[in-house]
Amino acid sequence: MISNHLLFKLASGEVFGQDQPIALKLLGSERSLQALEGVAMELEDSLYPLLREVSIGIDPYVIFEDADWALLIGAKPRGPGVERAALLDINGQIFAEQGKALNAVASRNVKVIVVGNPCNTNALICLKNAPNLPAKNFHALTRLDENRAKCQLALKAGVFYDKISNMTIWGNHSTTQVPDFLNAKINGRPVKEVIKDTKWLEEDFTITVQKRGGVLIQKWGRSSAASTAVSIVDAMRSLVTPTPEGDWFSTGVYTTGNPYGIAEDIVFSMPCRSKVRFQTEIPITFLPDRSIIQDGNLHYDIIHTGRW
Ligand code: LMR
Repeated sequence: MISNHLLFKLASGEVFGQDQPIALKLLGSERSLQALEGVAMELEDSLYPLLREVSIGIDPYVIFEDADWALLIGAKPRGPGVERAALLDINGQIFAEQGKALNAVASRNVKVIVVGNPCNTNALICLKNAPNLPAKNFHALTRLDENRAKCQLALKAGVFYDKISNMTIWGNHSTTQVPDFLNAKINGRPVKEVIKDTKWLEEDFTITVQKRGGVLIQKWGRSSAASTAVSIVDAMRSLVTPTPEGDWFSTGVYTTGNPYGIAEDIVFSMPCRSKVRFQTEIPITFLPDRSIIQDGNLHYDIIHTGRW
């Protein structure tokens, strides 16, 4: 569900800009392979000028080859009333395997965003299984929480969301996270100067952000999808774009050197800034035909779709 929203945003140039061609490699499972073919067909039919290749398969050692970005979304979602941590037994193994595959075949500078829950722990598992890749390139998605926090502050203050800045999510993408209203700003002023209702800030605001995902599951019967995809786009854009002076964004990163006094060797969300524009270098390839490569031993199909 998340990828269905995300792929079309990526292909349209929303993340890397209108001058950056893109190749999408979609990793699925045996069960989802036919649906993946359907997604590839829809991408093809959308005639995105920047989309030069779509490959699908179920072997991460093939799909992750030379990847510049790995968006690790596929995992078992939680149901109503379940905490994300309860998914660790089932999902942890996925990210250990994907970490190993990234370590073996991805670009040495691959940027990894872990979305499958519990995403902080899964990101840690993933990077521990990828010792030859820089740990700083692994992220746990807490941008969704940042966006949710900005939305709540904007609604309460009666301002448009773009007036909210310096919003930090500290810690875990879970109900223990701390959405930091003390350092956030509204129209450049501290939140507490604009929203005088301290009780709302300390109780309602914090709990609303912490529990937003769970409440959404109760309403929808399934977890968030479109807003998660939007937040992945936001997270990626923040990494490849210099952060505006004085502002920051939140992302879960590997802790070394006790940043902000936080314990070492965990993945923890904190305020970050991006200084350098990261340019992916995907060669423009023109593949006039659509070829299907099959390998019976590995049980994967790869479809290359051409753009010209
Ligand atoms: C979310 O916050 O919406 C996602 O992490 C899905 C979930 O389990 O809540």
